[in-house]
Amino acid sequence: MRRYLLTVALPKGRMFQEAYGALKGAGLDLPPVEGERALLHGKEGGIALLELRNQDVPVYVDLGIAELGVVGKDILLDSGRDLFEPVDLGFGACRLSLIRRPGDTSPIRRIATKYPLFTARLLKERGWVADVVELSGNIELAAVTGLADAVVDVVQTGATLRAAGLVEVEVLAHSTARLIVNRQALKLKRWLLKPLIAKLRGRDGGP
Ligand code: PRP
Ligand code: MG
Repeated sequence: MRRYLLTVALPKGRMFQEAYGALKGAGLDLPPVEGERALLHGKEGGIALLELRNQDVPVYVDLGIAELGVVGKDILLDSGRDLFEPVDLGFGACRLSLIRRPGDTSPIRRIATKYPLFTARLLKERGWVADVVELSGNIELAAVTGLADAVVDVVQTGATLRAAGLVEVEVLAHSTARLIVNRQALKLKRWLLKPLIAKLRGRDGGP
């Protein structure tokens, strides 16, 4: 097992560049990202950077493998983990919405999503009785094909919805990128993490 001064978990894909830039801009000496297939960047004793699937960022931070990470609020709403979330970084804005076929007002009996905890909570709050079908991606297809009466999914530009001929019935939650920090690490590596949090807070103008 390799040892690092600090390990940072970032989501690969849409949010990676902005997250990398935000941390770097706040003075964190992140390693360069080299090699198309590399998943871990950085040298032992320095800062390590992990490129993860969105959903795995809270897991690595909660279990203490990474001291900090950046991930969308949508993912945190579904993670069921108790993480310190000190900064709203502002970028990566999107919403979690209820999506259906146009004109479909029938009772929702089956709902597809890659956000099963969030969706189960929603059903409970609303008193709706429906089966939650967990899928891994291209969730809109579940509504298009009739696999489900409705889906709960992310909408950013709305382009995927339009292309699928579906409608956004209700916005359920708003999401932006958040800094998350392992609670234990906050105590043990306070000297490193506190100034970083302060700088990132200054950047978004928050408290
Ligand atoms: C996400 C999400 C929507 C789409 C929304 O899909 O699940 O399908 O982006 O973005 P838009 O409103 O700008 O079209 P993505 O392809 O990132 O992941 P997936 O594999 O889960 O579909
Ligand atoms: Mg998609």
